[in-house]
Amino acid sequence: KEHLKEVEAFISDDKEAIEAFRIKYLGKKGLLNDFFAAFKDVPNGQKKEFGQTINALKQTATEKVSALKGALEKKSEKKGVYGDLTRPGAPIELGARHPISIVKNQIIDIFSRIGFNVSEGPEIEDDWHNFTALNLPEHHPARDMQDTFFVQTDPDILLRTHTSSVQVRYMENNKPPIRTISPGRVYRNEAISARSHCFFHQVEGLYIDKDVSFADLKQTLQFFTTELFGKSKIRLRPSYFPFTEPSAEVDVYWGLETETDYRMTKGTGWLEIMGCGMVDPNVLENCGIDANEYSGFAFGMGIDRIALLLHQIPDIRLLSENDVRFLEQFKSTF
Ligand code: PHE
Repeated sequence: KEHLKEVEAFISDDKEAIEAFRIKYLGKKGLLNDFFAAFKDVPNGQKKEFGQTINALKQTATEKVSALKGALEKKSEKKGVYGDLTRPGAPIELGARHPISIVKNQIIDIFSRIGFNVSEGPEIEDDWHNFTALNLPEHHPARDMQDTFFVQTDPDILLRTHTSSVQVRYMENNKPPIRTISPGRVYRNEAISARSHCFFHQVEGLYIDKDVSFADLKQTLQFFTTELFGKSKIRLRPSYFPFTEPSAEVDVYWGLETETDYRMTKGTGWLEIMGCGMVDPNVLENCGIDANEYSGFAFGMGIDRIALLLHQIPDIRLLSENDVRFLEQFKSTF
């Protein structure tokens, strides 16, 4: 019983002391074996108590040894991992933003500074929002300009060919004044090459208020291109879109004159970056806006092409191949 008390009280974090303790009680020549050997000489009246006591002693000692050894092991394990607090940590690999996201965020940031909010809509659209409301009724030849992917065989359901569809939705649900840009992915059934893909990304803008003029459009575009490309020259060429009248194509001068600006390096002359125009009164009326009271402008650009320009990426397909060697290069960009 004395030994039982001793065993219960024993505590140590020293490997050798624990081993000595084990040998003393549980070793081949240990006390427990002596006790078991002595059992047969114990007088009958005491056998039961003696037996219970040595069994308890054996159990307690065994448990004690394994508990102390376990604690010791844990401690040395911890030492291995946390022991040297001055050791440098394992670096966590950070990913990079995709160039499309980088450029999209830049564009959103620029327009938000002049009061434009961001609106989004579905990529699977109906005919009304993608075409008809935008002054492209059925059989309108301009529908062929945008090779459309239809969803299954239903000609009413399609993958949007531009985010002008979001502008229609926005006009249907909001009253002027409206200042909104609509970024998003769009789809066209085009041959895939270094310059074009069957899906790409757009930011389209819409401004509707009383007395909005073409001069407002031009000034807004000049502000935008200067913010995005640095000191820049733009030129508007007459063009045609069913939803705007008059319509224009916007070129930015990607030239040597601006070579000192770090964002422009290789001079290649005039490059087309977007379409724009004054919103056709038919479109306003289709969307429930009184064209006698309000006017507005709209514009639309491809993010992918602008990303190619800004980052001198030679092939649009790189943007969707997920090659980490390509993507890693944008790590330092915000
Ligand atoms: N929706 C046109 C396109 O996808 C771009 C555009 C938008 C042109 C707004 C004019 C006005 O090509």
